Parts: sequence; structure tokens; C-alpha cells
Amino acid sequence: MADFKLPANSIIKKGKVFPAATSTDNKTATPQIKKFIIYRFDPETTNNPRTDTYEIDLNNCGSMVLDALLKIKDEMDSTLALRRSCREGICGSCAMNIDGRNTLACIKPIAEVEGDVNIYPLPHQAVVKDLVTDLSNFYAQHASVQPWIQTKEALPAGKEQLQSKEDREKLDGLYECILCACCSTSCPSYWWNSDKYLGPAALLNAYRWIVDSRDDATNERLDDLEDPFKLYRCHTIMNCTDACPKGLNPAKAISHIKRLIVEKK
Ligand code: SF4
Ligand code: SF4
Ligand code: FES
Repeated sequence: MADFKLPANSIIKKGKVFPAATSTDNKTATPQIKKFIIYRFDPETTNNPRTDTYEIDLNNCGSMVLDALLKIKDEMDSTLALRRSCREGICGSCAMNIDGRNTLACIKPIAEVEGDVNIYPLPHQAVVKDLVTDLSNFYAQHASVQPWIQTKEALPAGKEQLQSKEDREKLDGLYECILCACCSTSCPSYWWNSDKYLGPAALLNAYRWIVDSRDDATNERLDDLEDPFKLYRCHTIMNCTDACPKGLNPAKAISHIKRLIVEKK
């Protein structure tokens, strides 16, 4: 997978260093100081962009990167901005670039990072503040694939839409997407054409409805995707699949869409 670590001659300045608190709850433990080097950008100040360094004694911190970020925000620097909600890897809001890879901070163990922990916002997205990126385009692209069931006839009220066990299994590996954007923002084609290329997340979700046996809009969905930019900017680089923290395979879903378009002709 592509490495997003910044080059040594980066325009990002070095900012403040926040030393670890000297007192520990656990007086007998040997301090385990870890440095968290975090991207900072605040449109209301001029010292942008920069990285601030926060030193944390891991004896007094939870095991995940999100635990460290919340400790920093609560105890060291309340100005740090980040998104999070569930801390269970299911809401997708804490997606960011940690140690050169897109992932979810709440399920990324600090122990997996050797040396300093470098934390940046998701790549190639406009930064709102610090680790918070503007995902408006990403969500609009998701909405554009009409991610809901469409039927030719009105569904009978109060009745379930049944499907066979085999048809239900076709949705496995697709319905689990949490729209974290780790995949799309790791895709070079998306970096270069995110205004026109839908990206792996939107396309995986498009495929989730294309293969749903209860949906009647399969042909319309495929016709809509048959476009040089919406779909065919995918060059099977596979960064998306490598990046997905839920273990999904957007590249495979995209290849299935391409095959279905060929078979339809
Ligand atoms: S396989 Fe396609 S969608 Fe995935 S990273 Fe490569 S170009 Fe992007
Ligand atoms: S496919 Fe994976 S990486 Fe992409 S948005 Fe869904 S859960 Fe996140
Ligand atoms: S806080 Fe919800 S996925 Fe991390």
C-alpha cells in the first residue's frame, strides 16, 4: 500500500511539544513515554500547517490510538479537533492516517506502532480543522448511487421482503461498510479525480444494491455507472482493499460491476 508519510522537506512546520505529566496513578510502574506527533491546522490561526508533539506515559493511557487522542484532548490540549463516536469500529467517524496508513483510531492498537505515532487527517481531503476533513463530496457520491431498495411495484405494507439464504449471502462483505472513507482516500485515482470518479466506497455500496435480489433497478444502476469517470477510473491498484479496516474488498466489488456491464451487452 502507498505510504503517506511526509518527506523530510515537508512544508509542515514543527510546532509545540507537550511533555508527559510527571505524576502517575501507578507510582511503581516505570514510565513508558510514547510520542504522538499530530497534524494541526486551524483556519482561524496563522501557524499552519504544523505538527505538535504530545508525550504520553502509556501506563496511564488506554490501549488504542483513540484513547491517546482523547487523553490529549482531555488533559493536555483541548484545542485538538477530531471526530469519534462509537469507539467500537462501527460508526466510521474516527478514520484518519496513523503511521502512514488509513485506519480507525479506535481499533488501532498503540502497541502496533513502532516508535513515534504520526497522525494525519485522511489524505487528499480538504481539512476543516486538525484531523477533521470535509467529507461532503464523499457523502454526496454515496447518495448518488441511490443506496436504497427500488422496486417496480409498491411493496405490500407491513410485509417483509424475503430472499433466499443464497441471495442473502451475496450481500456479505458489502453490507458491513461503515462509510469511513479509508478506502476512497487511499485510492490514487480518487485523489486525482474525486470530482468525477465515485471511488471504491460508493462503488462497493452501488454493487451492494446491484446484487440485492429484492431490487428491481439493476439495469438502471449499471447504466448509470457505465461512465469513463464514475467507474472506469479504477485501475485495480488495490489500495482500497488494503486500507479497509473492516476487511472488505471494494476492488473486487468494482470488478464485479465491470463484468456485469459487459455481460449485459
Ligand atoms: S482498486 Fe480501484 S478503487 Fe481500489 S485503490 Fe485501486 S484504483 Fe482505487
Ligand atoms: S469499504 Fe471499508 S474502507 Fe471503504 S468506506 Fe466501507 S468500511 Fe470504510
Ligand atoms: S469511533 Fe466509531 S469507528 Fe472509531
